[in-house]
Amino acid sequence: MSILSLKNIKYSFGNTDILEGINLDINKGDCISIVGKSGSGKSTLLKLCADLVTQIEGEIIYNGKNYNTYNPIDLRKNISYCVQLPYLFGDNICDNLEYPFKIRKDKINKLKIKEYLNKFNLDESYLQKDINSLSGGEKQRIALIRNLIYTPDILLLDEVTSGLDYQNAKLVETLIKEMNESGVTVIWITHNLEQSESIFNKRICIEEGKIIKEEIFK
Ligand SMILES: Nc1ncnc2c1ncn2[C@@H]1O[C@H](COP(=O)(O)OP(=O)(O)OP(=O)(O)O)[C@@H](O)[C@H]1O
Ligand SMILES: [Mg+2]
Repeated sequence: MSILSLKNIKYSFGNTDILEGINLDINKGDCISIVGKSGSGKSTLLKLCADLVTQIEGEIIYNGKNYNTYNPIDLRKNISYCVQLPYLFGDNICDNLEYPFKIRKDKINKLKIKEYLNKFNLDESYLQKDINSLSGGEKQRIALIRNLIYTPDILLLDEVTSGLDYQNAKLVETLIKEMNESGVTVIWITHNLEQSESIFNKRICIEEGKIIKEEIFK
């Protein structure tokens, strides 16, 4: 059974159709890349999967049940979307990394936060840093940690390595692949064609709001 199915999805804004006739079955454990020209509808597709926007036609099924039968907060805890332009809130990095614990009313696990910072090639001195003092690539990694510190069921990544140098991009790729191998389903928008072949089992190409090609690698 698919973990996520998009059936005949249409999404419009005003009179403009942004996505149309989208049919997609995603299996548990898939690692899928989404490619396509700028403006083709890739981010909009992930926003639909993340329940941030709603289609005007068609339905989305998660674990056999329609999206609209779930509590949106529960859905967002299980389906985690890392946005294209990371947004940090509060004053410092600590505010951002404690947030996932706070919304779940869990005890803040400082050790886990430090562990994740280290995994992503950052250290604990970042915790007190002002959110405005970080580079684009540092912000991207903090936003990723915020999304990953509780393992999601489905991880939606929107060009999350665009601000990173080669070495850090590879590091993120390795960490995401490890999560995928431990059972997390990954859907990743990437402009990097080398990346889109190396770690994925499927590639979906979008053009002018339609899926024009679906390739299976292994
Ligand atoms: N809220 C919105 N209002 C109006 N138009 C929108 C809105 N969101 C997206 N669009 C339009 O829908 C189209 C698809 O946008 P989307 O962000 O999904 O593209 P994309 O494939 O992710 O592009 P990029 O590679 O540049 O990130 C674009 O033409 C965009 O202008
Ligand atoms: Mg986009």
